[in-house]
Amino acid sequence: MTTFLGTWETPGKPAVETAWRAFQGGANLRECIEQGLAVCEMDPTFLAIGLGSLPNSDGEIELDAAMMDGENLECGGVCSVRGIVPVISVAKKVLEETPHNLLAGEQARRFAISKGFTPRNLVTEEIARQYEKWRAGVFPDEYMHSTSDLHGDTVTMLGLNDGHCVAASSTSGLAWKLPGRVGDSPIFGAGLYADDEIGCAGATGLGEELWKAMASYRATRNMEAGMSAQEACDEVIQHMIRRLPNACVMSCVVLALRKDGDFGAAITMGKFDLWVCQDGAVSTQNFER
Ligand code: GLY
Repeated sequence: MTTFLGTWETPGKPAVETAWRAFQGGANLRECIEQGLAVCEMDPTFLAIGLGSLPNSDGEIELDAAMMDGENLECGGVCSVRGIVPVISVAKKVLEETPHNLLAGEQARRFAISKGFTPRNLVTEEIARQYEKWRAGVFPDEYMHSTSDLHGDTVTMLGLNDGHCVAASSTSGLAWKLPGRVGDSPIFGAGLYADDEIGCAGATGLGEELWKAMASYRATRNMEAGMSAQEACDEVIQHMIRRLPNACVMSCVVLALRKDGDFGAAITMGKFDLWVCQDGAVSTQNFER
């Protein structure tokens, strides 16, 4: 059985469908997930990832992405990258073509350019309008994930094939964040984790709290201790609700995929849709608290 999981109502579906098409075309698990996330990054209607996503307090889009391979625990990620998409492809190059785990900011952008990525303006007219509205005080919240639950937050993908798993994430982070702010998404153990001996896990939502909880590593360790994927996620979310009050101010989600194909997810507050593709059969599951 080959399984792909993708987060949130609108981006999750094209993410898993693209990954499955790539798999049918002979792509390996890393490539499938890269393509699934890249499709979302290049779609300017998704406001929390890639091109045309909500910017920081300077009006600049700063992107984070990461990939972890459960076969050998290899990691590659980038954070605070401006003017480059798809950043998941840059993260994959960090994984495959450097001895490092994470490149940041201007140096990550330089690395991307050295690998053939072309810098471009990611701020669409719609995003420029949203930024002006924020500056005018139209949005009441200091920070936010997106203008609508439909757009969700970070797109996180988990993939499993024949006992091999890969986890990856891509995000523009919190809207109106302080320049340079990095959340959980490119942090291994926080926003994603993969280990073929156990399975993999990922997160989406308020990065500060997910990072403090080391949500993905905790979910993975829970599965190692014998929990189902659902029990593993529930335990992480209960821990967050108990220890991290801000985790109930903005949604925090953890999702997990065990090496035997069992999967689950849980949320601290609000609603969340998980898209699931199992050998090409695509369905969605809804979570709410
Ligand atoms: N989970 C995305 C972020 O907080 O940056």
